[in-house]
Amino acid sequence: MDNLTVIVLAAGGGTRMKSKTMKVLHPIAGRSMIGHVLTAVQAMEPQHIVAVVGHQRDQVGPHIQALAPGAVLAVQETQEGTGHAVRVAIEAAGTTSGTVIVAAGDTPLLRGESLQAFAAEHEAAQRAVSILSGVVAQPFGYGRIIRNAEGDVEAIVEEKDATPEQREIAEINSGILAFDAEFLLDALPRITNENSKGEYYLTDTVQIARDAGLTVGAHTIEDVTQTEGANDRAQLAQLGRQLNARIVTDWMRAGVTVMDPATTWIDADVQLAPDVTILPGTQLLGATVIAEDAVIGPDTTLKDCEIGLGARVVRTHGELAVIGDQANVGPFAYLRPGTRLGIAGKIGTFVETKNSTIGDGAKVPHLSYVGDAEIGEGTNIGAGTIFANYDGIAKHRTVVGRYAKTGSNNTFVAPVSIGDGAGTAGGTVVRRDVPAGALAVSGAPQRNIEGWTQSKRPGTAQADAAAAAGRPKGKHEVTPGVGANTPRESES
Ligand code: UD1
Ligand code: CA
Repeated sequence: MDNLTVIVLAAGGGTRMKSKTMKVLHPIAGRSMIGHVLTAVQAMEPQHIVAVVGHQRDQVGPHIQALAPGAVLAVQETQEGTGHAVRVAIEAAGTTSGTVIVAAGDTPLLRGESLQAFAAEHEAAQRAVSILSGVVAQPFGYGRIIRNAEGDVEAIVEEKDATPEQREIAEINSGILAFDAEFLLDALPRITNENSKGEYYLTDTVQIARDAGLTVGAHTIEDVTQTEGANDRAQLAQLGRQLNARIVTDWMRAGVTVMDPATTWIDADVQLAPDVTILPGTQLLGATVIAEDAVIGPDTTLKDCEIGLGARVVRTHGELAVIGDQANVGPFAYLRPGTRLGIAGKIGTFVETKNSTIGDGAKVPHLSYVGDAEIGEGTNIGAGTIFANYDGIAKHRTVVGRYAKTGSNNTFVAPVSIGDGAGTAGGTVVRRDVPAGALAVSGAPQRNIEGWTQSKRPGTAQADAAAAAGRPKGKHEVTPGVGANTPRESES
């Protein structure tokens, strides 16, 4: 839009949050409240964005500048009312002409298109002031829109200053206002603080415009949730549920199957392809991206993950993981940052992975910890394998080559490498590198002490069972050590 200044008010304390975190910084759908407002504001492409900061501005200021690098921060040292806040903002921006929109930093459901439509209507009607109003069931606390017999807006009266009759009015000021800049510059110094709160009310500009014979109008927003603020954590949760419902509905309309919208949570910045299926109890958070035909859930949380085409992720907790096309994860997998699983690979049940690359078609099916590792294409890691990456001081890497088959219950003591096509016996503790094609065996040969149970545990159920099996009694007969087992892979 041409010559547009948007002022976002965020100087208030937000004490009802009872938090060390400033109100507008509380997260909802993966962004701060003010982050949602700034996204809506940025959609209008204004010439100037001014954020008014005061309380905890050391927290709020850098956050705003990170999200809206071009924004001007206007510092309001003492919170003397919305009229005072806007005066501080106009001075900081140096705005002298065009349109000025004022919004609050705590309305996370606000949409860019609503702001856009409001600003367009304000400009088309050539008004001095436009109010984005709403009709609500519980107008308590809001400024009421006072209209005359012809239906024209005459004034906004704040809750504390309203008569009992005025308090009955259901049309309220959402807090979002549009101004002709020249009018606003003229009106701001004329606002007084002679009211029951002793504040400079921005809403007094309506009366000022009317007295000067200028046009004032209200544009009623259909979806009032868009202008609702969260003042405490109960309201924040309420708005969070509404925002989530909107996001989930938008994705269903875009071709995503969501089996249970009520237990599915999707953050605002998540990206989903058509024909993704989301099963109940799933949270998709942060910057998670999911490709076509992937099936996620049930009971899965993915934060900042990338999931490939047709992949399957079941009962999994993942963060900063990249899962390849057609890969399988879970049930009960824990994907920690830096996990990369190749095409058609598998991270199975009770498997934890961290900072590891598992190649195309490679599998870690059962009960394993894979940390700081590189596993080559087509390799199968036996059940119950621990990649011992930490010596108590530093982390070390393990490299397993292509098409290796490692036995169950192995420990790989990093730094160590296992070559292409190599194998390891069950129970091997790999402390030295295994060359390509070799079989590593580290356990002592097995000895069987015949008759041990009947001699050492006579009269027990165990001894009875051994006797019933016809084993010799009493004598300690040791069969010679046999070679280590060949590996038993646990493939699924
Ligand atoms: C304001 C409106 C009211 C409207 C309501 C909608 C005025 C006088 N009243 O009332 O008509 O129905 O919003 O929610 O404008 N702020 C500052 N500096 C200040 C004072 C406030 O930055 O000195 C910020 C607050 O942080 C908040 C916003 O302005 O984001 C609104 O202020 P608040 O005190 O909550 O106004 P309300 O009494 O709710
Ligand atoms: Ca308020």
